[in-house]
Amino acid sequence: MALWGGRFEKDMDMIVKEFNASIGFDQRMYNEDINGSIAHVRMLAKCGIISEEERDKIVSGLNTIRNQIETGETVFDVEDEDIHMGVESRLIKEIGDTGKKLHTARSRNDQAQLDVRLYTRKEIVAMLEELIELEEVILRKAEQYKDKITVGYTHIQHAQPITIGFWFMAYFQMFRRDITRLKDCYDRMNWSPLGSCAMAGTTFPTDRHMTAEELGFYGPTENAMDSVSDRDYVIEFLSAASTSMMHVSRWAEEFVWWNSSEFAFIDIDDSFCTGSSIMPQKKNPDIAELLRGKCGRVYGHLMGMLTVMKGTPMSFNKDYQEDKEGLYDTADTWRASVKILTKMLDKTEFRMDKINEQLSKGFLNATDVAEHLAKQGIPFREAHNIVGRMVKAAEVKGCQLEELDAETLKEVDERLTKEMLGDISIPACVEARKSFGGTSPVEVERQIKSGREWLESVK
Ligand code: ARG
Repeated sequence: MALWGGRFEKDMDMIVKEFNASIGFDQRMYNEDINGSIAHVRMLAKCGIISEEERDKIVSGLNTIRNQIETGETVFDVEDEDIHMGVESRLIKEIGDTGKKLHTARSRNDQAQLDVRLYTRKEIVAMLEELIELEEVILRKAEQYKDKITVGYTHIQHAQPITIGFWFMAYFQMFRRDITRLKDCYDRMNWSPLGSCAMAGTTFPTDRHMTAEELGFYGPTENAMDSVSDRDYVIEFLSAASTSMMHVSRWAEEFVWWNSSEFAFIDIDDSFCTGSSIMPQKKNPDIAELLRGKCGRVYGHLMGMLTVMKGTPMSFNKDYQEDKEGLYDTADTWRASVKILTKMLDKTEFRMDKINEQLSKGFLNATDVAEHLAKQGIPFREAHNIVGRMVKAAEVKGCQLEELDAETLKEVDERLTKEMLGDISIPACVEARKSFGGTSPVEVERQIKSGREWLESVK
């Protein structure tokens, strides 16, 4: 009979038990559950609700159970229902009647919340480390490639020449915001629900500040009913994960694309590729493709949890048990993805020969010519139009803008001379984009320095 079985005359069908149970997945939080219980009984003793001997007996019993779980001596099954009752029923078996005092001034409603918050906190800390490691590698790569030039695209069309370091630093900023989102989530989440009990607090003279402090929370949550009812912090975590996985996915797509034989800008290391079972020549970027695709399940978990919470009335509802599997899978997926991306990035080098072939295509310096003309007094909109006509002429002649002869320039606009074009070689164009946030090597250098300072400050 379950620990809550006093008023029941019938047991559940097996199929119902299985449907109801969360033990299959929530045993992953056994440490959080036991740590929460230890803090709780310490508080009960301090407040005179149980004796010190009872506290010591319970704490030592809980530690024994932790040990039994870790050695595999204890195996949970569906009869345990969830991790909370699994631990409590074993405690009672282990130390006898004293164990029955553990659940004084507590409910599974606040206990489940406590465990999920402790678990989410642990995952946030681990995830931050992973993202910081990724940022380290990005900074290193940006430094290595700060003055190497590649094609910058808009609409997947040649747009402007950029430094590869600049491209790396764009991703640095995305993951930087992911880090701050995660920190924000931590700050809103790190409040202790323990002691909220079923929904309305307790008549026992408890000290929720004490358990909050002992468990490393900023303090206790303010309102018991809210504490057992909301899962907004899970949604925030899933949302931060979804955004970050979107960044991972976008980058992975660029890897796949740049690794294709049409581009061949990079050569993904063999150790991140697989072969084909039929086509012997193939080296497929499967890992990058998985990184691109993994965000699907994370988005799914976010939508799932938003939908679980929608329309649930105050206060606790069993619906909320659905918060865990998506959370666990999201944390696992996000962490693994960032770890793999970091490793892959670290091993990726650029094929400058292939990139250079592309730099002479697509009139990458057209904007620069327009800017040169505008600096010489031709209003920018007019200069834009002139360069548009120059591009047309160059296309007809099959040459670069800098190769147009004086005569053709005069035909485009009678004011135009060769000198007016200035130095529009690709390196000169890149060099000159020194505006704050621009692509020139000096500016990338500044971005790396500022990125490094920020990263040190969040470690
Ligand atoms: N296993 C549940 C969960 O994960 C806790 C059940 C809480 N309470 C209840 N009255 N059924 O949320």
